[in-house]
Amino acid sequence: MTASHRVKLKPGDTIGILGGGQLGRMLAMAAARLGLRCQVFSPDPDSPAFDVVLNATCAEYADVEALELFAGDVDVITYEFENVPAATAMVLAARRPVLPAQKILETTQDRLIEKDFVKKLGIGTADYADVSSIETLRAAIARIKLPAVIKTRRFGYDGKGQAIIREGDDIAQVWQDLGTKSAILEAFIPFDREISVIAARSADGAVECYDVTENEHRDHILKISRAPADIPEELAAEARGIAEKIASALDYVGVLGVEMFVVQGAGGPRVLVNEIAPRVHNSGHWTLDGASISQFEQHIRAIAGWPLGKPVRHGPVIMTNLIGDDINDFERWLTVPGATVHLYGKGPARPGRKMGHVTQVGAIPPKSG
Ligand SMILES: Nc1ncnc2c1ncn2[C@@H]1O[C@H](COP(=O)(O)OP(=O)(O)O)[C@@H](O)[C@H]1O
Ligand SMILES: [Mg+2]
Repeated sequence: MTASHRVKLKPGDTIGILGGGQLGRMLAMAAARLGLRCQVFSPDPDSPAFDVVLNATCAEYADVEALELFAGDVDVITYEFENVPAATAMVLAARRPVLPAQKILETTQDRLIEKDFVKKLGIGTADYADVSSIETLRAAIARIKLPAVIKTRRFGYDGKGQAIIREGDDIAQVWQDLGTKSAILEAFIPFDREISVIAARSADGAVECYDVTENEHRDHILKISRAPADIPEELAAEARGIAEKIASALDYVGVLGVEMFVVQGAGGPRVLVNEIAPRVHNSGHWTLDGASISQFEQHIRAIAGWPLGKPVRHGPVIMTNLIGDDINDFERWLTVPGATVHLYGKGPARPGRKMGHVTQVGAIPPKSG
């Protein structure tokens, strides 16, 4: 019996959240609505999640004493980002259940291990190769062909740590610019669209998937999500089935996001898995206002050992991220009929920084070019 099967919180119990960003903030707000307390652990004194909890620990992830005190204050521990250091998770897991389980981080922190895992399940991905030197990069290019995408195995997000390699590019320069010896090369996928599935899995193995979401990125950062995705129902069912298979194979407890590409195959459209996020996901923010139960509440229910909800979508939904200077427009958004505005309470609006989002349920503005 694993620790996850023993967790059964009562209202008034405390959840520890590693990471103090907007995801931690929205998790804590969802927990509060269910009568649960949260304590947030983050090294950043300006963490937006600190503002919505009574107890916060501002310490480094390597601070064992602070981790032990934190664990002593909480009943179960979860995280809002996948790059939780293994040593941190180990210290915590020795004292309290950590959900999703620590071993899941090992799979999802590394793009190569993650892709191998997905492939072993018989799920399609872009063709990929392990790259650890200029020689292996050249060999990978010879096999996979260009254009291709090189990605660092670890710590990439919002398009950071990756580059497209095109015919004629200076390969030695690309390799030098990447600044790591641990990468993968992926075939460039000329996708029709990008979709994601937000799935929740409880400790007893029940899985609930939200409607498939369609995602538009700008400058590699999610800009707009729409639910439901404009794809045939069989394809949507295939996408949900893939997310369920991944969640079950990981013996996952909590919410995860699976990013996928829709591509045209010989027999019609099919999906390829791009990456797995072992946490609540930006493309699931629409569920806050667009569904009867949000992804944040589902995650809290799952790690609390409570039954998952059966979320009902309230209509077609569009979620628009407010990135960087977009935040300067928040007063206009406040006046848009039907719009629900979420601001994360972050400091300076640096370029690329996620500052808030807006949900619109019902009337959907036409797709931008
Ligand atoms: N193999 C690929 N082919 C085409 N586009 C890609 C490929 N890999 C990534 N992209 C594009 O870059 C975006 C970010 O890549 P992703 O692997 O999701 O990294 P992260 O979100 O961690 O930065 C994707 O959402 C997609 O738009
Ligand atoms: Mg991604």
